[in-house]
Amino acid sequence: MTLDVETIRSWFPTLQKQNIAFLDNAASTLKPIQIIEAMTTKMKYQYTNVHRGVYPLASKATEDYERAHETIADFLSAKPEEIVFTAGTTSGLQLAARLLEYNDMINEKTHLILPKDLHHSAILPFYRAGVGKRSKIILLNLDQKGRPQWTRLEEILPETDNAIIVAGHVSNVTGYEAPISYISRQAQKHGACLIVDGAQSVPHLPIDVSSLNACMLAFSGHKMLGPTGIGVLWIQRDLAYSLEPAYGGGGAVVDVKPQGNSLEIEWLEPPWRFEHGTPPIIEAAGLEAAVKLLKDVGMKNIAEYEEKLIQALYEELEKIPGVNIIGPEPGERRGLVSFIAESIHPDTIGMELGLRGVAVRTGMHCAGPLHHSLGLEHGSVRASVYIYNTLGDIHRLVRELKDILST
Ligand SMILES: Cc1ncc(COP(=O)(O)O)c(C=O)c1O
Repeated sequence: MTLDVETIRSWFPTLQKQNIAFLDNAASTLKPIQIIEAMTTKMKYQYTNVHRGVYPLASKATEDYERAHETIADFLSAKPEEIVFTAGTTSGLQLAARLLEYNDMINEKTHLILPKDLHHSAILPFYRAGVGKRSKIILLNLDQKGRPQWTRLEEILPETDNAIIVAGHVSNVTGYEAPISYISRQAQKHGACLIVDGAQSVPHLPIDVSSLNACMLAFSGHKMLGPTGIGVLWIQRDLAYSLEPAYGGGGAVVDVKPQGNSLEIEWLEPPWRFEHGTPPIIEAAGLEAAVKLLKDVGMKNIAEYEEKLIQALYEELEKIPGVNIIGPEPGERRGLVSFIAESIHPDTIGMELGLRGVAVRTGMHCAGPLHHSLGLEHGSVRASVYIYNTLGDIHRLVRELKDILST
């Protein structure tokens, strides 16, 4: 299937019912009928808990839930045992930090390298773990376009023997696409562990984790047509087998035996040892349907289509007097353009655009370090695209913005 935007738009009840230019996709995307139906069917006819019952309905639910891992593994060129379902990127990155901390991979000898363009969900779990363990924390500064000084890795990494690098693959404010191959080469050369926040990249780009050379990558289902309440933490296979779970519970163990006053715990194999408790069963059906849909449309098609929208959005915004775009040129960014207008508060712009049927996000976008580093104390306005947006949406945003700025 090629990207036929009119057909794609017909899948989204919100777009059928409302005359809206929905440009808040970096926060969360709209939901197509295929995902709604997959989840409804699961709830209506195929629902039981998984990995527990032995009756046919339960066996089928378990089979479906395990197949969802395989579908997502295939989407990322990963192995099914590397796919851990979480509640989203935030919980995936919390789990990542906690796992490294619990397994003594974050300790007083660790260098934690954290660029200042990270989302709070990526910077806080690792920063706080590092502070707790008295690690050496290195915050990478940003240039005027909000790009982290990644080349500093060449001076920092040779002096380390246990470094952890956290990279935001695509920034949710500048749209900057980090040089992930360069970062992973540096990490590999010096034995560092690379953790990738893929919240803004996995929904928009073809991702092949088999050649990423990273330790872990996290993303959210709800930013890629899927439901809220589910995300993925990909953990590289050898690492996954070597890690003891940081959280125990039902669904994570084969058996627990009392040995006098202690417990002998036999953990399940990955990924199940990391999925404690009843998992997101209905959401897994939704995420699997979303991934199948994205695969049918084609991630390469999506990336190319969005590139054209972003080029147009950038060029149009650049021409408006008093508007300042945050971040690099279109060739270095993906999926979104954030800006400020000299004369009006970002929230006012967002509210005015909203009244005119244009949905954008305003504020600090959970990226305090980035906004403060760039002197953007009032935040910014962010327009972000997805597969159902058109050039018409971009023109509408620009037209309404010009009107707001001129009154
Ligand atoms: C770059 C980035 N990381 C992490 C997150 C957190 O994602 P979630 O709220 O789905 O956990 C977001 C969400 O906006 C994001 O844009």
